[in-house]
Amino acid sequence: MKSNILIIELYENMIEMEEKTVAETRVELAQIMYPEHANPAGNVHGGYILKLIDQAGAIVAARHTHSNVVTASVDRMDFISPAFIGNLVFAKASLNYVGKTSMEIGVRIEAECLKTGRHTHIGSAYLTFVALDKDDNPIEIPKVIPETEEEKRRYEEAQQRRKRRLKKSRASKDEPQSCIVRPEKLEEF
Ligand SMILES: CC(C)(COP(=O)(O)OP(=O)(O)OC[C@H]1O[C@@H](n2cnc3c(N)ncnc32)[C@H](O)[C@@H]1OP(=O)(O)O)[C@@H](O)C(=O)NCCC(=O)NCCS
Repeated sequence: MKSNILIIELYENMIEMEEKTVAETRVELAQIMYPEHANPAGNVHGGYILKLIDQAGAIVAARHTHSNVVTASVDRMDFISPAFIGNLVFAKASLNYVGKTSMEIGVRIEAECLKTGRHTHIGSAYLTFVALDKDDNPIEIPKVIPETEEEKRRYEEAQQRRKRRLKKSRASKDEPQSCIVRPEKLEEF
């Protein structure tokens, strides 16, 4: 009986380790900007754009790993052009690189003017997501297969960025507290 429990626990902590191509997990979200997304002058809020970036990145990470994923870091984001109410905003996200338990996803934001069809580049960001098991521990994830020349270039560049990022991000971590764990785990404290 005990061994059955062990097998179930092992299974719950496993994720499908099948390698995937970049094309298999990439996404493109599209959303019209309404007044609720913007300031009184009609400029879309930067925070709303960041939310779209995080959502698009998280979808790619979840498609690649089929597990719970969290954002570990967002690299610098410059808003190089504005987006306005009435624009169709796209978040184009794809997997650049996979480490052991983390992965880098690149997200490009574009705004389409629906009157002309013209696309404007709003900004791009690199995000790192970590896959977690049911106990919120980082879990090993499948490798990615870069196929095109562009995907191979992004893979190489992401590897270099990861080295620089990890050098900088040695923030000290607080002890876990009972009020920031999942509600169903509160009774363990
Ligand atoms: C992200 C998190 C799971 C990392 O936990 P940790 O105890 O540092 O785990 P590890 O040291 O084992 O690192 C796990 C992976 O994350 C990577 N990582 C950790 N901190 C990172 C950071 N600041 N930037 C980029 N990658 C990071 C590590 O390099 C490692 O990747 P690898 O396995 O591919 O080499 C943890 O910090 C966390 O839960 N943060 C909160 C996440 C969250 O809630 N995000 C939403 C916003 S509130």
